Amino acid sequence: MPSILGPWWPVLELIGLSRRFGDLVALDDVSFVVPAGAIVGFVGPNGAGKTTAMRIALGVLRPDAGEVRWRGRPVDAAMRRRFGYMPEERGLYPKMRVLEQLVYLARLHGLGPADARRRASEAVELLGVAVRSKDRLEKLSLGNQQRVQLAAALVHEPDVLILDEPFSGLDPVGVDALSAILRSQADERGAPVVFSSHQLDLVERLCDAVVLIDHGSIVAHGAIEELRASRSRRLFRIELAGAPEGWWEVVPGVELAEPLPDQSGVFELAGDADDQRLLDIARRAGQVRVFAPVLPTLAELFREVVRA
Ligand SMILES: Nc1ncnc2c1ncn2[C@@H]1O[C@H](COP(=O)(O)OP(=O)(O)OP(=O)(O)O)[C@@H](O)[C@H]1O
Ligand SMILES: [Mg+2]
Repeated sequence: MPSILGPWWPVLELIGLSRRFGDLVALDDVSFVVPAGAIVGFVGPNGAGKTTAMRIALGVLRPDAGEVRWRGRPVDAAMRRRFGYMPEERGLYPKMRVLEQLVYLARLHGLGPADARRRASEAVELLGVAVRSKDRLEKLSLGNQQRVQLAAALVHEPDVLILDEPFSGLDPVGVDALSAILRSQADERGAPVVFSSHQLDLVERLCDAVVLIDHGSIVAHGAIEELRASRSRRLFRIELAGAPEGWWEVVPGVELAEPLPDQSGVFELAGDADDQRLLDIARRAGQVRVFAPVLPTLAELFREVVRA
């Protein structure tokens, strides 16, 4: 039996966060937990409240109500130094040299001079920007500046990573490298990762769980596989050969959702329609090669639950 203090124990908790900007309700009673060693994707449309929630978690912004807890205790300034953060507005010094800047940031997070230098060198190596160590940040391309930002979030070996759109601007090699880095932070160091992204295929591949926010409220959350399986629509993909036109029309409650060649297709079943009866009819109609439930992608779920 897994221990209650085991890897899925919630270490970071956002509890009942609300925040207004004037009349605008940016967050309305948002709660979710991030377990140790988990990668959580934070997704939602533009203006949904992701950055606001992450800023509150980092203590950059005050909530009107609610609190953030780390290992069961309200987060204080000392704990925040153990957090790794990549803000939406980025925040490095354009004129400062890459390595120098990382050493400086590591020192701010409490590392001694030798450790700071060692960790900064490791971080530029890890992010593939070691050759740019002596350049001023402003001379780097957008994607490479992004890599330095990520190095900055990692340089002090944080206990948790909170990253606002860390993948934006990275090339495919950079995306793979960062995915591997986040996985190893979570798996090997047990440091949970929360990151926002609009790249839902990436979130689906990389994350253990997802939190979907819309108009300041959480509209879906949980393990991605569970969310995909919990969709209310029942869709089956049937591929067959030699069937006559409209063969499925004799089964009550079945509609063709997406036609495929040779009278194959994705079929939607009404709540009480019998999938086994559909299979029987399909087998009588032709030679069935594929009969499989179709689970939605994260992007499809997103479109279903996010209000227009
Ligand atoms: N400092 C601020 N002053 C006024 N309104 C703000 C402020 N910060 C955020 N907002 C508003 O709060 C809402 C949530 O914004 P937030 O930046 O959290 O969204 P987001 O989910 O991060 O969006 P995106 O995907 O575009 O980054 C938006 O309507 C935004 O305009
Ligand atoms: Mg944002």
